[in-house]
Amino acid sequence: MPSSLPVVPDIDEQLATSVAERLVLIEDRLRDSVATSDDMARWTSRHLMDAGGKRVRPMLVLLAAALGDLEQESVLDAAVLVELTHLASLYHDDVMDSAPTRRGTDSAHALWGNNVAILTGDFLFARASGLSARIGVEAVGLHSETFERLCLGQLHETVGPSPQDDPFTHYISVLSDKTASLLALAGELGAVLSGAPEAAADVMRRYGEKVGVAFQLADDVLDLGSDAETSGKTPGIDLREGVPTMPTLLVRRRAADSAEPRSLEIVERLDGDLSTDSSLRELVAMLRQDPALEETRALAQRTADEAVAILEELPRGAVRDALMEFTRTLVQRRR
Ligand code: IPE
Ligand code: IPE
Ligand code: MG
Ligand code: MG
Repeated sequence: MPSSLPVVPDIDEQLATSVAERLVLIEDRLRDSVATSDDMARWTSRHLMDAGGKRVRPMLVLLAAALGDLEQESVLDAAVLVELTHLASLYHDDVMDSAPTRRGTDSAHALWGNNVAILTGDFLFARASGLSARIGVEAVGLHSETFERLCLGQLHETVGPSPQDDPFTHYISVLSDKTASLLALAGELGAVLSGAPEAAADVMRRYGEKVGVAFQLADDVLDLGSDAETSGKTPGIDLREGVPTMPTLLVRRRAADSAEPRSLEIVERLDGDLSTDSSLRELVAMLRQDPALEETRALAQRTADEAVAILEELPRGAVRDALMEFTRTLVQRRR
């Protein structure tokens, strides 16, 4: 098992046992999925895989599959597929965000340079594609649509909104594409492959789409509010790269609307030189005191509440309860 354990919601005992058993199998299969005679590719791709991670997406596949027959073999493949895709995107994301640490260890580009990190991400995407082909043609289609949205989300984040776009609407659409698309795939594939009713698969796709936005908003809060030991990432790294997040968008809007001195100072620092560790630390400290952090947390919670409202369309029972509990762990997490 990875060093940081998966996030397992507090759920019905029998369901929890079935899910936990499968998470162990998924770990083995994840490792097998990057087996190769190429020592370098195996080493670099296992670097972040072995470093841990919460395994949120495999967990969602399993919980969705519990709406049908959790024993279906392809459910395990789907869980590996979504985690591999996620993992690949992390290798690329850390290059784009110049993030030195990930999952409590050095990021791949920090160890081996950008080229190796990008190519390892590509290797993982290739293995994910092979896996989707093994699951079947429907999975290939759904996976390729998700992969496209993930790339477009990252692209739109990079280029930012055009002058006629509302920055908040733009930002939420970026979160939907770069993050929620994969949670939607996890929910949908889990339900479809387990043979759950079509209506349940539709609920799980819409739920994944909603909870994914809540999850990424919670990530924005953690990026500022959490320390490196807990999150395994470098606090405030997005600020240095000028990557917009919900808290910074909120402060910028307040500064523009009210010219309130503290907000103006934060904006000045956001647009200033953040290359030194002390300048970044000071800005993080100012943002931690700013109401924007709490507003973002509240928005994440409201979005999670909307996700729970979608789950209410499912039949009552242990699986629905577990999904509701899972939602809570995703937004109230500390890492
Ligand atoms: C990090 O995802 C990237 C986001 C989309 C927020 P996770 O928070 O699921 O990262 P791991 O897998 O636990 O490392
Ligand atoms: C990551 O987004 C999204 C993808 C990897 C597609 P972020 O850049 O916001 O996530 P962290 O904070 O680095 O995990
Ligand atoms: Mg990042
Ligand atoms: Mg990023």
